[in-house]
Amino acid sequence: MSAPPGAGVDDWLMQAALAAGRRNLGMTWPNPAVGALVVRESGQGPLILAHAGTAKGGRPHAEPQALADAGEAARGATLYVTLEPCSHHGRTPPCVDAIQAAGISRVVAAIEDPDIRVAGRGFAFLRSQGIEVTTGIGTEEARLAHAGHIRRVTLGRPHLMLKLAVSADGKAGLAGRRPVAITGEAARRQVHLMRATHDAVLTGIGTVLSDDPQLTCRLPGMLDRSPVRVVLDSTLRLPLASALVATHEIAPLWLIAAEDAPADRETTLTEIGVEVMRVRRRPNGGLDLHEALHLLAMRGITRLMVEAGPRVAAAFVQDGLVDEADIFTAPATLGTDAIDALHGLPLSALDAYLSETETAMHGPDRLRVLRRA
Ligand SMILES: NC(=O)c1ccc[n+]([C@@H]2O[C@H](COP(=O)([O-])OP(=O)(O)OC[C@H]3O[C@@H](n4cnc5c(N)ncnc54)[C@H](OP(=O)(O)O)[C@@H]3O)[C@@H](O)[C@H]2O)c1
Repeated sequence: MSAPPGAGVDDWLMQAALAAGRRNLGMTWPNPAVGALVVRESGQGPLILAHAGTAKGGRPHAEPQALADAGEAARGATLYVTLEPCSHHGRTPPCVDAIQAAGISRVVAAIEDPDIRVAGRGFAFLRSQGIEVTTGIGTEEARLAHAGHIRRVTLGRPHLMLKLAVSADGKAGLAGRRPVAITGEAARRQVHLMRATHDAVLTGIGTVLSDDPQLTCRLPGMLDRSPVRVVLDSTLRLPLASALVATHEIAPLWLIAAEDAPADRETTLTEIGVEVMRVRRRPNGGLDLHEALHLLAMRGITRLMVEAGPRVAAAFVQDGLVDEADIFTAPATLGTDAIDALHGLPLSALDAYLSETETAMHGPDRLRVLRRA
């Protein structure tokens, strides 16, 4: 393999490690989707001996898989890894032990793991064993890839991506909350791909009652990559005949209700396989979103996609909880009597703490990606 011109060898090999990890985004929660490569110098440039990503369900980690694949050839080789290798005994032995046992002589890592059980101890252990450690390669991309893990361990909540589909005049639905397809087929496919890379997708009961969505990933062959579906439903109004209930065996369905939601309704829903959890109400009556996100993080959710109507979307924006907004804008208008994308807020409210980082066309629809600085 030869390096692309202008890129350092460590940089482009780290890009390959990032790609190996990103493949499993949405499937490794509560763990981060880490990527690892074992590389040795072949005399004609670096040779990738093995590559791996954190397995589905979060174990095994990427490093021991790549090391096992490389076998004896790993002795004296370099390990590229997108996050600091773990140094604590969890349900699996520490990755640093596997790295040392495999005879790796150099580790190149993108970022330190902010998890207090690691936080620099992995690097310190490796250095103490005479292994050379280089950090800070591919940092920006690794922070994005591991944003869910970082927010969960530092803030106690998932990374939140708000997806909105808006018309050219900033509307998200027809008057009377009647459903309408705003964006086209290419954007729809992109949204399904986004679902696949998130641990959970959250909506409000308003959207369920008007659109009856499934919120699964229905790209060909990818149904098993459907995220957990979460509905904010204070009084447990979710219809038993809804598409969400009908698909609860494809992907889990969790409802977040108020503490005073009817107990008999919870019993009925639980009996058919829906999980119900409860949080406080805010003074204005809506569910406490900070508590809801904390609850999801406690259950292991690291990457949350919000695909909700204007009320829930605006509430997350107002509470400063949106880390990324992916806004698809269609060329057509819906007219003045249609409903605004953010209830009671202009769309520009997102600019208060997010800035545009990317744009792309999906068929006729423009995607703008805004992120927290
Ligand atoms: N264009 C898009 O991207 C998009 C996406 C989804 C939906 N939609 C459209 O949006 C419309 C539905 O809008 P909507 O605003 O009624 O739906 P929504 O935002 O999905 O749901 C609103 C409901 O969520 C519940 N909720 C619980 N806690 C809340 C909180 N803290 N803040 C706000 N709401 C909370 C409330 O019902 P309870 O009090 O009963 O809990 C509230 O009425 C439909 O026309 C649908 O087609 C558009």
